Amino acid sequence: ASGEHVPVLVIGTGYGGSVAALRLAQAGVDVHMIEMGMAWDTPGSDGKIFCSTLNPDQRSYWLRTKTKQPLNYFLGFPIDRDIPRYTGILDAEEFSGITVYQGRGVGGGSLVNGGMAVTPKRENFSFVLPSVNPDEMYDTYYPRANAGLGVGLIDSAWFESASAYQYSRVGRKHAGRSGFPWGFVPNVYDWNYMKQEQAGTATKSALAGEILYGNNYGKKSLQKTYIAQAKATGRVTISPLHRVTSVAPASGGGYTVSIDQLNTNGDVTTVKTVLADRVFFAAGSVGTSKLLVKLKATGVLPLLNDEIGKGWGDNGNVMCGRANWLWDPTGSLQSTIPCSGIDNWTAGGAFAEVAPLPVGIETFASFYLSITKNPNRAQFSWNAATGKVDLNWQTAWKQPGIDMAKTIFDKINAKEGTIYRTDLFGVYKIWGDHLTYHPLGGAVLNKATDNYGRLAGYPGLYVIDGSLIPGNTSVNPFVTITALAERNIEKIIATDL
Ligand code: FDA
Repeated sequence: ASGEHVPVLVIGTGYGGSVAALRLAQAGVDVHMIEMGMAWDTPGSDGKIFCSTLNPDQRSYWLRTKTKQPLNYFLGFPIDRDIPRYTGILDAEEFSGITVYQGRGVGGGSLVNGGMAVTPKRENFSFVLPSVNPDEMYDTYYPRANAGLGVGLIDSAWFESASAYQYSRVGRKHAGRSGFPWGFVPNVYDWNYMKQEQAGTATKSALAGEILYGNNYGKKSLQKTYIAQAKATGRVTISPLHRVTSVAPASGGGYTVSIDQLNTNGDVTTVKTVLADRVFFAAGSVGTSKLLVKLKATGVLPLLNDEIGKGWGDNGNVMCGRANWLWDPTGSLQSTIPCSGIDNWTAGGAFAEVAPLPVGIETFASFYLSITKNPNRAQFSWNAATGKVDLNWQTAWKQPGIDMAKTIFDKINAKEGTIYRTDLFGVYKIWGDHLTYHPLGGAVLNKATDNYGRLAGYPGLYVIDGSLIPGNTSVNPFVTITALAERNIEKIIATDL
């Protein structure tokens, strides 16, 4: 309620925010979480909470009147369609040179992501987080994060027979014939549930095209793990459809947090203020960066240092498809949950997930999302004329990432006598180079904050999400975001409370 005084306010309910809320609550602290998206706990008129990628409705996108599908063409034809404007689950946030996809709702990115739960190889860790001691991460915090998230591996014997993973087996065959290491990738999807979907004994989710707009069954999103545990302490409350707009030092100590309550059209219905002793920024790389850049530039938090807004990267994301021969079908039934990847990080700077193309028909296509060692970094800045925060990323900055992904796929194409698909991202366009699923950075650890996420200049203000990570994790990011949050909150609880 407006005017309330809370010990801790957490902005956002993704990985960083959920870890902070759970551990603070377990330490006896009352926590209030503010989330701009919906609660996603109530079925729609079709009896389901989430809609399928094959049939997007108003629930699919955050305040858009037309879908903006990451794979926006099929057979050279645009496939986006009109939808009613609504506070839907996936935000395709457009900056000048890149579209950044993010989850909106209680659970953040865990609601919409592929669930791939990958711990970076230890030899790559100093590249990922140079100021963090790898021993404590690999001995304590990565195991804690994997346990908290419910990470598991596919049953390798079952994998061989599952028709829904034919595409993955084709990916393995092609990787192997070109001499690339291929391996299983852990996931937070319930693999036993997946088996039942394949056997036809449970309602299909991953096998029914559910993913980008939420999974109705099977996926252990944060709602089922950290957030469920946090709520069970009785110390955590969550306000969905509330967006934080400002955090300002209060005269008597603590911080005044300004919050807009939204309706499902995205209109502001009420403006509230809350006094908080401590505030955790966990609005995601883009959300946290936008808030901090604005608050510094407009003189609300002038003591924030000059690292605010810097060090942003796209985790080197690039997508591509390959056209297979007719004797290499990838399957008309494809699980939306990827289970394998091709590792050429050390030699070529690329780790490629063998991704599904779950369109319900045989496409003879292999599809990949590559994470590359693209060195380009962008910066957020305040645009006083528009009253918005800009990001100076340029589409051409994807080129190093494309070149790294080509170290894998040019070789596979040469070996197999195959070509790239040119019909998935436009008319005669090979590379999906217009987007990222993995925004990272903007309030980098040990630069914009101290080595535990304490913001420079303001005791009681913390960053605890993907904005702490300087642009790249060498693999999919959420396990690292979770593990770093576990590390930082443990220190903060021990020394600051
Ligand atoms: P996260 O983005 O999760 O949470 C931030 C929350 O804050 C959101 O719920 C947002 O609505 C809220 N918020 C923002 N601004 C606010 C404000 N001003 N007031 C109130 N609330 C606010 N990663 C991975 O490891 N494996 C994978 O398979 C995938 N796959 C994948 C697919 C797709 C389609 C996407 C979009 C992303 C992925 N990811 C992924 C990436 C992963 O989901 C992402 O890295 C994490 O969710 C980031 O966690 P954070 O805690 O940083 O923020």
